[in-house]
Amino acid sequence: MFSQFDTDMMSRAIDLAKRGVYTTAPNPNVGCVITQGDDIVGEGFHFRAGEPHAEVFALRAAGEKANGAIAYVTLEPCSHFGRTPPCADALIAANVSRVVCAMVDPNPNVAGRGIQRLRDAGIQVDVGLLQPQAEALNPGFIKVMKTGMPYVQLKLAASLDGRTALANGKSQWITGPEARADVQVFRAKAGAVLSTSQTVLDDNPSLNVRWEQFPLDVQADYDIKTLRQPIRVILDTDAKVKIDAQLFSLDGEVLLVTATPQAVSLGDDVEVIQVNRQGNGLDLSATLRALASKGINHIWVEAGATLAGSLLNADLVDELIVYQAPKLMGQDARALANFGGLTAMEQVPSFDLTDVCQIGNDVRLRMKKQ
Ligand SMILES: NC(=O)c1ccc[n+]([C@@H]2O[C@H](COP(=O)([O-])OP(=O)(O)OC[C@H]3O[C@@H](n4cnc5c(N)ncnc54)[C@H](OP(=O)(O)O)[C@@H]3O)[C@@H](O)[C@H]2O)c1
Repeated sequence: MFSQFDTDMMSRAIDLAKRGVYTTAPNPNVGCVITQGDDIVGEGFHFRAGEPHAEVFALRAAGEKANGAIAYVTLEPCSHFGRTPPCADALIAANVSRVVCAMVDPNPNVAGRGIQRLRDAGIQVDVGLLQPQAEALNPGFIKVMKTGMPYVQLKLAASLDGRTALANGKSQWITGPEARADVQVFRAKAGAVLSTSQTVLDDNPSLNVRWEQFPLDVQADYDIKTLRQPIRVILDTDAKVKIDAQLFSLDGEVLLVTATPQAVSLGDDVEVIQVNRQGNGLDLSATLRALASKGINHIWVEAGATLAGSLLNADLVDELIVYQAPKLMGQDARALANFGGLTAMEQVPSFDLTDVCQIGNDVRLRMKKQ
């Protein structure tokens, strides 16, 4: 069904979609290429929620040449009126002859209706080209649409002996500057950076994105002044965090999740959401669901061993990202994740290793839930 040319054009559309990784949240990253014969006549990608979709930019660039053309899109063209009109209608109006899409849109408002609309208009539609690569563009969007829960990446910086802080709580810095710069890139791609009252009290972290520290090629591609800050989410069951914490003095939104909203005194700029207690803290499933309902599809967690253990124990981590430093912190230093009581290897949380690389003097391991 698909030729090498089709594959090359969809690869190009996927590359275009990646240009939106720092800007489109909560919308998905989408790219589009329009071809006439062997020539690309239009290209586009979705840049920001509320702005035109990839197909519209590509159709504008193609102009009259869209007539009879093939459109390659990384996600099924939308069929509903959101903040912009349906892209399926725009492709029909432009009189394209064929649409190739990498995947069906998991958004229940679309879910095959865009494809049907195109087919009903007599346009050939072929679906599934480079689907795994297209899915990898939007893990958060896809997970929320299918389950109502966000995609959770848990980051931990650990020593060679798997320790994440000294016994007295000090952990700055286990890893080197290159690993910490790499963390900035992950933060920037997430809808929210999530941490805890304990880490705020211990470390007074900023948890923001320092765009000016980004690699120069990224800085060249974007006007960094226009880039968004991910929302910083702090779990604070009993409202212990005080307004003098550094994170409140920096650009970007902060959202506090607490069981005791009446005890929060952080001023009107900090949004507060209430979640019930569970065990020694907050109900984490309810917390994640509440964040997804606020349009936060993809969460980057930076916290200590206690929250890491709770998230792992509750099976709420999709991806584990461990930066491991060639240092030894000793047996009294804090663990990677606090949980226990396991008695059989079948109970051990296990991951598939998806990537290993050296970053400066540290190793980065990426692992996905099995
Ligand atoms: N190595 C790293 O990558 C890294 C990253 C960040 C921090 N750290 C270090 O980690 C240390 C803090 O670690 P920590 O283990 O003491 O604390 P933590 O894991 O950062 O936070 C634990 C706190 O989160 C809150 N929480 C709310 N709901 C929870 C739930 N369901 N399960 C677990 N926690 C919940 C609780 O505080 P409330 O009851 O107040 O809500 C709890 O005490 C700091 O010293 C910091 O330096 C290391």
